[in-house]
Amino acid sequence: MTSTTSHDPADAAYRTVFEPFRIHSVEPLRMTTAGYRREKAREAAYNLFQVHADDVLIDLLTDSGTGAMSRDQWAAIQHGDESYAGSPSYFVFKDAVQELFPYTHVIPTHQGRAAERILFQVLGGAGRVIPSNTHFDTTRANVEYTGAEAVDLVIAEGRDPHSDHPFKGNMDLDALEALLTERGDTVPCVMMTITNNSGGGQPVSMANLRGVAEIAHRHGKPLFLDACRFAENAWFVKQREPGYADAEVPDIVREMSGMADGMTMSAKKDPMGNIGGWLALNDDDLAMACRNLLILTEGFPTYGGLAGRDLEALAQGLTEVVSHDYLRYRIRSTAYLADALVRMGVPCLTPAGGHAVYVDARALLPHIPPLEYPGQALAVALYEIGGIRSCEIGTVMFGRHPDGSETPAAMDLVRLAIPRRTYTQSHIDYVIEVFERVLTQVDDLGGYRIAWEPPALRHFTARFEPLRS
Ligand code: F0G
Repeated sequence: MTSTTSHDPADAAYRTVFEPFRIHSVEPLRMTTAGYRREKAREAAYNLFQVHADDVLIDLLTDSGTGAMSRDQWAAIQHGDESYAGSPSYFVFKDAVQELFPYTHVIPTHQGRAAERILFQVLGGAGRVIPSNTHFDTTRANVEYTGAEAVDLVIAEGRDPHSDHPFKGNMDLDALEALLTERGDTVPCVMMTITNNSGGGQPVSMANLRGVAEIAHRHGKPLFLDACRFAENAWFVKQREPGYADAEVPDIVREMSGMADGMTMSAKKDPMGNIGGWLALNDDDLAMACRNLLILTEGFPTYGGLAGRDLEALAQGLTEVVSHDYLRYRIRSTAYLADALVRMGVPCLTPAGGHAVYVDARALLPHIPPLEYPGQALAVALYEIGGIRSCEIGTVMFGRHPDGSETPAAMDLVRLAIPRRTYTQSHIDYVIEVFERVLTQVDDLGGYRIAWEPPALRHFTARFEPLRS
């Protein structure tokens, strides 16, 4: 592991966020004009999920599966063995997973939500309750699909966009204790999302995880990690939690995983894959039930819906993501964007999360009421003005309820998710300049109405109309 020294180019004393790689293969970005993008936005009915990706200049829609693989990951792909059963690539993958997450059973899946579906099909069901700090949308949906209830127990600071608590992803331990005391017989397991994506990519402390594990185990419940961004979480622990400054990230990760009994994983995040996931756990009977479901829909347990070459790329990615040089760059580059936006007066969720910057569109566009979707207005403006694709996380996403009613979401945010190792500091400087332009036009931005929407998950396909042309 590389140590930090005062003359290290990655030292925080340098203004430049030193990217610890050089570019080996490039993908062209197609230049477009604002006029062209206004036309494309109109054609897409102002829904950025409907825009063709080659009409996007900087794609900050998600950090999931959109990162750049390394030279060594592409080389590992050549070692992929596509045997249906017992592929050597599976054992390379399993060893790499167990190096950081030493669970007995490692079950590959095609992505994170497949692991969630399998786990909750076994553990969920009507009358069951599954607590988490905050369930990610797909986790919540997979819990609820089985008839179970998904409960979020994040600490109060985690709901405050400007609290400077260092671990805003922590779970409220008293609330967990109360839930397990009152309704313990309905709870099959406890989940913890690290980092807490739906709460703004905020980390969970080791002390909190220890507290959650202690309470869960005292009540006889297994603890599962939704560990997509485990390395970013470990880096925050190293930076912010007393006692961990000198710890190596792989050791922090092993300590985290040792407190839990299993995990679900989207390998499209920190494992640096374009596709993949897994379910890992210690319980033999639960593992057998999960493997049986895996065979039904994903594939044989040594490939689980992935190609052997994908398993090789993920194994290599796991060795790269725990590098201190990489993580220092990663977390600094997210903070670099957030700090610049805050300095110019753009209201953001602070402190910045690990993988994304969340802009408070309701505060930036106070003249647009929540039911005219200020988040959508900002996201469309960023696209039209600068070709930046972001994601509304607000009233469009959460405002419509199953009974047909519509209410403002708790917040109207726009997420700028940073793909791993994909954009340089110049690209991010361009994003910052686009925000400068947006700021000069804030009063001219109008809201939207929804002209058509599907019965569920409307944000993917809804058609919008501008209320002001
Ligand atoms: N858990 C968390 C915390 C996630 O952020 C995601 C995906 C999943 C589970 C599901 O994984 O996509 O591989 O099935 N988050 C992406 C995002 C989609 O944009 O935040 P998946």
